[in-house]
Amino acid sequence: ASIKTYQFDIQVKNVSRLCHAKPIVTVNGRFPGPTIYVMEGDRLQINVTNYAQYNMSIHWHGLKQYRNGWVDGPAYITQCPIQTGNSYVYDFNVTGQRGTLWWHAHILWLRATVYGAIVIMPQQGTPFPFPQPDREEVILLGEWWHANVETLVNQGNHLGLPPNKSDAHTINGKPGPLFPCSEKHTFAMEVEQGKTYLLRIINSALNDELFFGIAGHRMTVVEIDAVYTKPFTTEALLIAPGQTTNVLIRANQIPGRYFMAARPFIDVQIPIDNRTATAIFQYKGIPNTVLPTLPHLPESNDSAFALSYNKKLRSLNSPRFPANVPLQVDRNLFYTIGLGRNSCPACINGTRLTASLNNISFIMPEIALLQAHYFDVKGVYKTDFPDQPPKPFNYTGAPLTANLKTSIGTRLSKVTFNSTVELVLQDTNLLTVESHPFHLHGYNFFVVGTGIGNYDPAKDPAKYNLIDPPERNTVGVPTGGWTAIRFRADNPGVWFLHCHLEVHTGWGLKTAFVVEDGPGPDQTILPPPKGLPKC
Ligand code: C2O
Repeated sequence: ASIKTYQFDIQVKNVSRLCHAKPIVTVNGRFPGPTIYVMEGDRLQINVTNYAQYNMSIHWHGLKQYRNGWVDGPAYITQCPIQTGNSYVYDFNVTGQRGTLWWHAHILWLRATVYGAIVIMPQQGTPFPFPQPDREEVILLGEWWHANVETLVNQGNHLGLPPNKSDAHTINGKPGPLFPCSEKHTFAMEVEQGKTYLLRIINSALNDELFFGIAGHRMTVVEIDAVYTKPFTTEALLIAPGQTTNVLIRANQIPGRYFMAARPFIDVQIPIDNRTATAIFQYKGIPNTVLPTLPHLPESNDSAFALSYNKKLRSLNSPRFPANVPLQVDRNLFYTIGLGRNSCPACINGTRLTASLNNISFIMPEIALLQAHYFDVKGVYKTDFPDQPPKPFNYTGAPLTANLKTSIGTRLSKVTFNSTVELVLQDTNLLTVESHPFHLHGYNFFVVGTGIGNYDPAKDPAKYNLIDPPERNTVGVPTGGWTAIRFRADNPGVWFLHCHLEVHTGWGLKTAFVVEDGPGPDQTILPPPKGLPKC
């Protein structure tokens, strides 16, 4: 094991896309930011120096940060932000994980431009459990806005309006030639006939779940969220914000130029999707004058594809990489996902959009929850988050305005160390057309079941997959449906649980678990590092 160091300078830079130049927040002036390469077992030290006028914090999405929430990154959850002119070293070990993860700003909407890939290579002598690729490539799917992200946050949070949609999707920061002035902002990947490529695909978009495909080529899915899967081939894949998917692809077609494309899955039909991002899968020696062909991606509202795609995802569950699914559950949680309107005297129309779990819309604290927990600062949060919704109702039936009355608060759930938890996330029909990608910090979980309609505690658990369910850190809860996840609470700390659609997070679709210390000396939260930012 070795120590890998990185310097991240947070700086504002002018970047032009879609015929306009505008200042954006970047890491080291790069958009997307640098890829972190590390080997399983290494120690990472990333010094983040903030030269921008915004407060900053960086999250290492999917890294478990065992006992070490101090470096997890979400602002006001595990740390106070790094203020302008200050630095903070994120110092942590990368143990027990290998694959593709990513990093992003975890404050306001700054992750719109502050994000990059994390590639964890397996330890020497432990090859991939699939054919060794000839080469690999990181594919970061994202979004581009003409508007300043600050304005968008305010539209959502203070004006009570839904913020604008992005102006384009992007592949490695580039929208591709279907957009004006974007010929030169097109990502191209050169391939050689007969070779095999590993694509590390990351959805870093703020608000859109995406379909992705490459014209004329099939992809073999081999890993999701840095966990190996049973391989399967597909023409298109579905990837929610926060998720990663590794695929193998063979350049085995007539040498030419083929479009890769990404476009949203949103459960309503968009007749002409003018935000499709494209990039080029380009065979060596083919001139740029050859017009590429577009892949056949599912319709924007093809929920049948989504359902069948997600069903194919299964943990590899080999002797080397077993799926240790908790078979017995100590604690059953059931959280409803609600979107609605709350009164807001300062907002246009006197109301604002709000989002809730069990009818509670989360209010961000003013000091970091992990600090409050560790130093026992009173009055920052309560641990009375209800295990069940206040009153059961027909979640996916006719909307009842009574179910729109959300309360607000910084309410968390306390979890006993090493207990096994099952959490059922139930979508409701309150103003929603999108799947909600839920991300849990500090853990991977097993997705043991999912379905459309109301979760039925009498019937649905019998249908769970407890053998090889997908293990991941972010899962889409289907529109008008539910998803059940299980994990063992063996990582003490305060861990954020939130929808990875930034607009919903901003409206309060989040809470956190306080996982208590265990009895052993190696089962407690580590002391905070020197230089932890102060609020
Ligand atoms: Cu990728 Cu809390 O986020």
